[in-house]
Amino acid sequence: MSVSSMFDLPSVAGEQVAGKRVLVRVDFNVPLDEKGEITDDTRIVAALPTIEHLVRQDATVVLMSHLGRPKGVRDESLSLRPIADRLGQLLERPVTFVTDCVGDVAMDAVRDAQPGDVLLLENTRFHAEDTANDPEFARQLARLGDVFVNDAFGTVHRANASTAGVAAYIPAVTGFLLERELQQLSHLVDAPNRPFACIVGGLKVSDKIGVLESLVTHADAILIGGAMANTFLKAKGGQTGASFVEDGEGVEFAKSIIELAEEEDCSLLLPIDLVVAAAMEEHQETQVVAADKVPDGLMALDIGPRTRMLYEARIADAHTIFWNGPMGVFEIEDFADGTRAIADAVAENPGMTVIGGGDSVAAANKFGVADRMAHVSTGGGASLALLEGENLPGIEAIREAPQ
Ligand code: 3PG
Repeated sequence: MSVSSMFDLPSVAGEQVAGKRVLVRVDFNVPLDEKGEITDDTRIVAALPTIEHLVRQDATVVLMSHLGRPKGVRDESLSLRPIADRLGQLLERPVTFVTDCVGDVAMDAVRDAQPGDVLLLENTRFHAEDTANDPEFARQLARLGDVFVNDAFGTVHRANASTAGVAAYIPAVTGFLLERELQQLSHLVDAPNRPFACIVGGLKVSDKIGVLESLVTHADAILIGGAMANTFLKAKGGQTGASFVEDGEGVEFAKSIIELAEEEDCSLLLPIDLVVAAAMEEHQETQVVAADKVPDGLMALDIGPRTRMLYEARIADAHTIFWNGPMGVFEIEDFADGTRAIADAVAENPGMTVIGGGDSVAAANKFGVADRMAHVSTGGGASLALLEGENLPGIEAIREAPQ
């Protein structure tokens, strides 16, 4: 697979936007706490270069995004209003929040805006037509801009009206964040400096089967951790006790990955020891056991100290690293050592180190190492889809847009 052909896309950098209305799809799907406060603004900060560029060029900037999965229903807890406030602070200029993304409210707000103004439209997923990629809804969105900029890398794998459909009606270009993500992730599959090691964790093998199949053909080593390691250990005949195991299909997937790794000459490393406890809770009595002998009634919740050393050594040797998925239940301190050790080892590596979104980014932030990575992707599902070589509707739409 090669993604370099993706760079053949028109960029916002080459677009004359002065005096134009520029409709920008961003991914402001950020985590919120129970009080509705933003707990991590990485995705907002990552969108600033494109927004600031457009403001400097005297465009009217009309931003749109989804937040959560409201399934076509207006849900105030998923309103983008707090995000408009945070964006205004970061830009140090007012951001006009518009209470709907289509209809008269949106049309009027855009008509009244001046060059250099920044508007943020309400959650596109308050309309079911967004995820349904409804052509009429896409056309209504397109009426809000002369040009469409897609800068929402995190949703580039979704065929939604706001990510793809809209580009059928107006010229479309990539934003700076989208370009940077494509460039950085393409290093991994085009011509990685070797050795290339991938660290893959998380809950289910079935969620990552596509990316595992792809990585096995590109990487020199894959280090497996997290609950999905239990499914691999079971596939190799180990005793998994009360650990989470994805029986049936998951075990079959694991066996097929083990075979493929042998054929492709990729070392597939599994834990050799595990931290186990009776329950996934704080203040449990923990013990370290051999990975293939988890006693009945106990469950694996982290990789053990010997596995940490083994993985740290492979990470230190690698020149290219991709990390997606934690090694254990790192949110609970007793089971955080494995993920912390991996985060530190990746941060220490001076090579091309990439974190692929989601939980691993949360872990890198928690352990204070995110800024020591070569690239932290803003897309979890999107980065995996790209590495899998899946068709990315957000990219295809730019390619096919009227210019
Ligand atoms: C993400 O958080 O991965 C993106 O914003 C996509 O969100 P979605 O999975 O709800 O489409």
